[in-house]
Amino acid sequence: MLNIAFAPAMPPKSGVLVVPLGEAAALAGLAAALDKSLSGALKRAIGPAEFTGKKGQQATLLAPSGGVKRVLILGTGKADAFTPRAAEELGGAVAAALTKDAEVTLLADAVDPSLAAHIGLGARLRAYRFDKYRTTQKDDEKPKFSRLTILSGDPAAATAAYAPLAAIADGVEFTRDLVTEPANVLYPEEFANRIEGLKKLGLRVEVFGKKDLEKLGFGAMLAVAQGSAREPRMAVLIWLGASGTTTPEGKKIKKPKDPIAFIGKGVTFDTGGISIKPAAGMEDMKWDMAGAGTVVGLMAALAGRKAKVDAVGLVGLVENMPSGTAVRPGDVVKSHSGQTIEILNTDAEGRLVLADVLYYAQKRFTPKYMVDLATLTGAMIVALGHEYAGVFSNNDELTEKLIAAGQATGEKLWRMPLEPPGESYDKNLNSPIADVQNIGGGRAGGSITAAQFLQRFVNAKPWAHLDIAGMAWVAKDLPTTPKGASAFGVRLLDRLVADCFEESK
Ligand code: BES
Ligand code: MN
Ligand code: ZN
Repeated sequence: MLNIAFAPAMPPKSGVLVVPLGEAAALAGLAAALDKSLSGALKRAIGPAEFTGKKGQQATLLAPSGGVKRVLILGTGKADAFTPRAAEELGGAVAAALTKDAEVTLLADAVDPSLAAHIGLGARLRAYRFDKYRTTQKDDEKPKFSRLTILSGDPAAATAAYAPLAAIADGVEFTRDLVTEPANVLYPEEFANRIEGLKKLGLRVEVFGKKDLEKLGFGAMLAVAQGSAREPRMAVLIWLGASGTTTPEGKKIKKPKDPIAFIGKGVTFDTGGISIKPAAGMEDMKWDMAGAGTVVGLMAALAGRKAKVDAVGLVGLVENMPSGTAVRPGDVVKSHSGQTIEILNTDAEGRLVLADVLYYAQKRFTPKYMVDLATLTGAMIVALGHEYAGVFSNNDELTEKLIAAGQATGEKLWRMPLEPPGESYDKNLNSPIADVQNIGGGRAGGSITAAQFLQRFVNAKPWAHLDIAGMAWVAKDLPTTPKGASAFGVRLLDRLVADCFEESK
């Protein structure tokens, strides 16, 4: 984990110094003083590099006097475009450029302390690594960047602004670790064990085993699990940040009050079951628990920064395997809602898991809003690629809030159609022998069909479904996300809570 520290603006005596510089901006503050003490060397480094301060530009000054090994000058673009997100991208660029440097100091004395904090967040998110299974890495191949000191005009304010962001980064890293773990290590029981570890943050955690799920009548989720040697689990995470544990009158509250509920698909491996997937690329299906991973990381972030909100997280954890005990195409099962489902394709398993967990969430908690996340359909990638996740919702207000939070954090959402029950797309889900079937007629509009299926288990509650199939992992490095598990949704939903649901602090 990258360590971020804020310190007063004093010229560093060693290591690498990073100087952010905007378009048409003059060297200011400590940078100007430094340039003077170096007899104008900073300005001379900028000149020949034709450095104009455009976002993404870099210029390097080697071995200036004064003990610093190198000065890296980074363009930050136009001053009014230096948003919190742009600050994060700057931090990310620092982490990407300086992986082999142990001692890095960044000049942010001319930057607002809150933006300085976002630089720290971006650096930390980009510096994420998952090296636990590497045993043969040579010393010179190992990353050295483990501490970033940010010089601020007001280090106390920057430190305070960074504290909640560090909790968000903790949540993102927790999610990325879960999503990256291979499926032989992270199966439902182990996933639940890791969730239990979050109790230390003040989260209440309940874990339901196979017997509990049988008693609750989770016939849809259990049908997915029945082909696997690994038992399923459901975990419920409860954060009482608004009601706390007592009312103003001093009465103890044991239940969350009108919480917002987050529900995640946690298929720790998706072979497709008897409707088995082709071999090529099947290894990607260890990531089919990313929805659940995100819900869990989000709950960790909310608890870590003591968000003033009542929130619950529910994840359905199963492995989808073909075997002699596996569910067959054509089998009919009874869901927790009481509706019977004809399972025509065992690879459309995520919706079966979510059907039971969604129904349970609304029955037990009567949430004011529900948001589910799932790597639900390959068709989502066909539709939107890897830039936007799809949002399907029965509620315009919730959708607008989600889209705005997506714009602010860079985790973007695009609204997809969802029709009322009984109309258009929904009709394709009528089964000849049960209440509903788990796939529609053909491949067309596959992501919409899946969302319509989920809607049959939502009792007209304000609800949004995020299909994150194209966003859960990235094939190449992005500004604040290294290649691999992205934890898409943690920052988005944390922002939704902060902007729309937290009591004023
Ligand atoms: N986990 C997959 C969806 C998926 C595919 C996510 C590729 C990420 C990348 C899901 O369980 C699935 O298999 N969906 C099927 C649905 C079909 C059988 C109706 C699909 O998308 O092909
Ligand atoms: Mn599947
Ligand atoms: Zn799946």
